[in-house]
Amino acid sequence: MIMKSVQIISTGLSLPSRAVTNDDLAAIEDTNDEWIVKRTGIRERRFTEGEESANSLALRAAERALKKSGIDRKKIGLVIVATLSGDYSTPSVASQLQQALGLDKDIPYFDINAACSGFPYAIETARSFLYANPERPYALVTGVEELSKLLDMTDRSTNILFGDGAGAVVIRLVEGSYASVLGAQSSLAINCMGAKSDSSYIRMDGKEVFRFAVRILPHMINTTLEKAGMTYDQIDWFVCHQANKRIIDHVVRAMKLPGEKFYCNIDRIGNTSGASIPICIAEMEEKGLLHSGEKLLLLGFGSGLTWGSCIVSYR
Ligand code: COA
Repeated sequence: MIMKSVQIISTGLSLPSRAVTNDDLAAIEDTNDEWIVKRTGIRERRFTEGEESANSLALRAAERALKKSGIDRKKIGLVIVATLSGDYSTPSVASQLQQALGLDKDIPYFDINAACSGFPYAIETARSFLYANPERPYALVTGVEELSKLLDMTDRSTNILFGDGAGAVVIRLVEGSYASVLGAQSSLAINCMGAKSDSSYIRMDGKEVFRFAVRILPHMINTTLEKAGMTYDQIDWFVCHQANKRIIDHVVRAMKLPGEKFYCNIDRIGNTSGASIPICIAEMEEKGLLHSGEKLLLLGFGSGLTWGSCIVSYR
C-alpha cells in the first residue's frame, strides 16, 4: 500500500510585539524569576496589546506561509485553525481568514479545539481532506492562541505559564510512511469555562497535568514510530508542545533520546497551547534549521486531557 504522508511546503510566524518578563509578573504578584525558570524554563512570554488579537495573529502567520509557498491560492483546498481562544466562539478564526487571504469561498474553513494537541489533530484532519480532494492539493493549517485574555492575573500558578502567538504551515500530500496517534481521556485537570465570569479563566491542577504529560509523551513517541515502522534515529526533529521545559527534559532523560533534536523556545514564548508546535516549526525554518526531506515528529498534549502526534516531512 502506498501511504500518503504530509509535507510542509512553507511556514509563517506571528508573535505579539509585547514581551512580558518574569520580573514584570513579579512586579504584580508574589512570584520571582528564579522560581519560574527553575519550575518551567520560562523567562518571558508575549501578550497581545492594542489592536492585536487571535484573529489578527492568525492572519499574519497564514499570510506569511502562503506568500512563502508561492502557490496559486486557488489550489488551497482547506483551511483549518487549531485554537481555543479565537476572537469569537463563532464565527471561527478560519472563516475570518477567507476574505483577507483572497481564498476561494467554496472550500471548508473550520477551527479545531483540541487545546494543546490541536495542531497534530488539525494536520491529521487536513490529511484526510486532501486525500479525498486531490484537485486542490494544498491545505493551510494555522495554530493561534491569545491566552493572555483567559488568564486570572491573581492566580500565579497559571498566569506565569501561558502566552500568545501564531504559526502557520502550507502542506500537501506526498508518498511516504506516515502515522499518527490521537487520543483523549475525560478530565478537568485543565479547564476554562466559556461564560463571562471568574470561571472563564484557565484553571489547572499542575501536578496532575505534569504526571499525565510525562506518561503520555513516551506512549505517543513509541506508538507513532511503531505504526510508521520507523526508529528514533530516523526522526530529525521532535517538535514537542512547549508546556514546561522540565517535562521535555524528563522525557529526554527517561527515554535516552538526543536532547539536541528537541527544538525548544519556551524560554522566550511560554506555553501557547495550539500555537506552540507551528510556532516552533516556523522559527526552525526561519533559523535555517530545517533541511529538505527531514522528518519531524510532532507531539501535542494538554487539556481534555488530549494527546496527538504525527510524522511530517519538510519540503
Ligand atoms: N511563584 C512562586 N511560588 C509559586 C508559584 C509562583 N508562580 N506558583 C506556585 N507557587 C508556590 C505554591 O504556592 C507552593 O507553595 P507552598 O509549598 O508554600 O504551598 C509551591 O510554590 C509549590 O507549588 P506547586 O504547585 O506544588 O508547584 P509545582 O512544583 O507543581 O510546579 C507547575 C507548578 C505549574 C510549574 C507544575 O505543576 C507544572 O509545570 N505542571 C504542568 C503544567 C503544564 O504543563 N500545563 C500545561 C499543559 S498543556
